[in-house]
Amino acid sequence: MLAVAVLAAGKGTRMKSDLPKVLQPLAGATLVERVLSSCQGLAPQRSLLIVGHQAERVRSTLKANADLEFVLQQPQLGTGHAVQQLLAPLAGFEGDLLVLNGDVPLLRPETLEQLLARHRASGAAVTLLTARLADPTGYGRVMANAEGEVSAIVEHRDCSDDQRRVDLINAGIYCFNWTRLAAVLPTLSSDNDQGELYLTDTVAMLSPAMHMQVADADEINGINDRLQLAQCGALLQQRLREHWMREGVSFIDPVSCTLSEGTRFGRDVVVEPQCHFRGQAQIGDGCRIGPGCLIDNASLGEGVEIVYSVVRGATVDAGCAIGPFAQLRPGAVLERECRVGNFVEIKNSRIGSGSKVNHLSYIGDADLGTNVNVGAGTITANYDGLRKHRSVIGSGSKTGANSVLVAPITLGEGVTVGAGSTLTKDVPSGSLALGRAKQLIKENWQGPS
Ligand code: UD1
Ligand code: CA
Repeated sequence: MLAVAVLAAGKGTRMKSDLPKVLQPLAGATLVERVLSSCQGLAPQRSLLIVGHQAERVRSTLKANADLEFVLQQPQLGTGHAVQQLLAPLAGFEGDLLVLNGDVPLLRPETLEQLLARHRASGAAVTLLTARLADPTGYGRVMANAEGEVSAIVEHRDCSDDQRRVDLINAGIYCFNWTRLAAVLPTLSSDNDQGELYLTDTVAMLSPAMHMQVADADEINGINDRLQLAQCGALLQQRLREHWMREGVSFIDPVSCTLSEGTRFGRDVVVEPQCHFRGQAQIGDGCRIGPGCLIDNASLGEGVEIVYSVVRGATVDAGCAIGPFAQLRPGAVLERECRVGNFVEIKNSRIGSGSKVNHLSYIGDADLGTNVNVGAGTITANYDGLRKHRSVIGSGSKTGANSVLVAPITLGEGVTVGAGSTLTKDVPSGSLALGRAKQLIKENWQGPS
């Protein structure tokens, strides 16, 4: 039997934030979500989250996790006090308890599997994850012998000078035999620099206590302040980029680009400098992205080329060319081989294949047929101050420069709109529509003198 408990009740004073530390975002997911997902593969019988500081906020962020049991720690008197709160909900539970700090977000699932396997094979009362760090500042030091047996953990601030030189640190990840831990939990004392009940003190009370050193020390980075948050963010980005480079994506300047875990690339994609992918971003084979693009929850078909542009919540089919300086907003759908040029914004609109919106346009709440040519400066006036209305432009139509289509309005197929027209009425297929003042010429006119 396995129970997993994540400690997430602390305030995170060192973050200097109104947000509880475990809700700080890291590459699109909160710290606590990352910790929870690192142990999902272990299929625990029980999953408990210890909440306290802003408990409601943490709870509501995670309410989709139906199997998660929330345990309230109020007030928060330390990590040992946090785990004491499990005595009631885990009364009668027999098996192992995996305890994870809610602020250690880069753990690999395989590392936890190994830790559990090692713990079960050795029959230790506790097995904890450790690392050797060049700079162990801030972490609890693990006093261990050559056989991997741990005698004690001493927090950084409680260390003697000699102890502080130990470079083996406690990652804050432990496998306990629950029955053995439950027996010693009530005896913890707060006789330390912070006056808190330390979970780490249980290790000296349990025998045998073993440790497992993690191969990649980057995995156990704990986050206490924004500097560490940024450093973990950089490591995560490096992992993501390396993964996709191995899958066949070319990055021209990798460190200048950021990815989300939901980003998916096809083959032979080239990512130029300064490109950012967020949420579920799907990039088809042979796309060329950037420089300077933001692709957020959007999907691009094969061979799309896009330069200095923002694509959010949009779908772009194969062979389209976008930018520079275009913005595709939610609900924009570009069918194959469209061209969207500079200073063009498209929102909640379908643009038929082969259509061109090349310069200085706003297309909102519109349906364009195929091979439409939208002239420079064409605007769909979709909002009457109260409601949004749709504009329809039939296939093969052309709008002249600086046209305004006041929605709701339908232009049939093969319509031509004269430059500078403001149209308020529907236009039948095959017509020329003009909606501008007639040009007036006064010959030999003298201005006021
Ligand atoms: C802890 C360990 C330290 C280890 C380090 C690894 C203790 C005493 N020290 O130190 O040995 O090297 O993690 O990152 O455990 N929390 C609660 N309730 C509380 C206090 C904290 O739930 O009353 C939670 C926090 O939300 C956090 C986790 O426990 O997720 C760790 O707390 P934190 O204060 O960050 O411990 P560290 O000082 O980093
Ligand atoms: Ca910490």
